[in-house]
Amino acid sequence: MNYRTLGKTNFKISELSLGTWQVGGKWGSGFSDENAEEILHTAIDSGINFIDTADVYENGMSESAVGRVVRSRSERIYVASKCGRFINPHINENYQPKVLRQYVEDSLRRTGLECLDLIQLHCPPREVYYRPEIFELFERLKEEGKILHLGVSVEKVEDALKAIEFDNVTTVQIIFNVFRQRPAELFFQEAAKRNVGIIVRVPLASGLLTGLYHKNTAFGKDDHRFFNREGAGFDKGETFSGIPYELGLTAVEELKALFPNEKNLAPRALQWILQFPAVSCIIPGASKVEHVHSNLSTYDLPDLSADQIEGMNTIYEKYIKKEVHHLW
Ligand SMILES: NC(=O)c1ccc[n+]([C@@H]2O[C@H](COP(=O)([O-])OP(=O)(O)OC[C@H]3O[C@@H](n4cnc5c(N)ncnc54)[C@H](OP(=O)(O)O)[C@@H]3O)[C@@H](O)[C@H]2O)c1
Repeated sequence: MNYRTLGKTNFKISELSLGTWQVGGKWGSGFSDENAEEILHTAIDSGINFIDTADVYENGMSESAVGRVVRSRSERIYVASKCGRFINPHINENYQPKVLRQYVEDSLRRTGLECLDLIQLHCPPREVYYRPEIFELFERLKEEGKILHLGVSVEKVEDALKAIEFDNVTTVQIIFNVFRQRPAELFFQEAAKRNVGIIVRVPLASGLLTGLYHKNTAFGKDDHRFFNREGAGFDKGETFSGIPYELGLTAVEELKALFPNEKNLAPRALQWILQFPAVSCIIPGASKVEHVHSNLSTYDLPDLSADQIEGMNTIYEKYIKKEVHHLW
């Protein structure tokens, strides 16, 4: 495992870390504590020391499992959670400091931790980034010892650029992958100027970039890859990176041709992201322990060659860019 500094937090975190939206099992399929704990212990045994969760993941069960496992371990494990998505309706007017404070306190209770290493605003409505009183709240929570740092999770580059104007925003969580390349254009430089950590989510475009999916792959009815392709539940950019599924499959077929002897392209998709020094860490989601092993096998492969990188970027230019580049 390699470790990188998470911006001005100074945490030294595993560059390949863990996302836990689906840690209890496949999306929409019920939550297994046993599965969650096995994934979390395997990740930590492998040197992963940064875990991303959120209060809303499986209605708090992800956070509880993360807290249970972290408390049982002697290593220093950094826990990042998120708040705001329980707000219903999810509109700017309902973002109030006292509401967010209650969510942070609920996360502390669920995890059983005295302090959260990082709390992230969970893709709030755009107007929230124009309200200093929201960001000020987290200074109070720091003074009270409830959090160490504030971060934001964003949908769009524009939100990220606005959020980092607040001095106490130490990290930005953003989608970045072979099929979502725009963050590297401007945002990475701006984040580096302010020493803001970058946490990369959805690195596999919800699994599409593994190359294991096909036209008839079945996704359960409660899996967002079934119901959110057009954004019925939340921003469609979170599902397959916002790429129309069939188009994504076509582009992935060409990616496969670059790696003819490799069945699962997940480790290659992660390698592509790791070549950017601005990235502090990647948080691939795992619904079974094999995903953790597979993603860590990135380190067993030779580096991507210049030709392979060029090939991956050319596929992006050819199929994906005109469809989504301007949107996020
Ligand atoms: N708004 C936000 O802040 C937000 C939004 C989305 C995600 N996140 C965070 O980011 C993390 C990662 O994003 P994500 O989970 O949406 O997308 P992702 O990491 O691109 O995709 C995860 C899915 O890909 C499949 N997968 C993962 N590793 C694999 C492997 N080695 N081989 C084969 N399949 C593999 C699994 O699908 P199956 O389970 O179907 O096998 C898994 O559920 C989440 O867990 C969460 O912590 C945050």
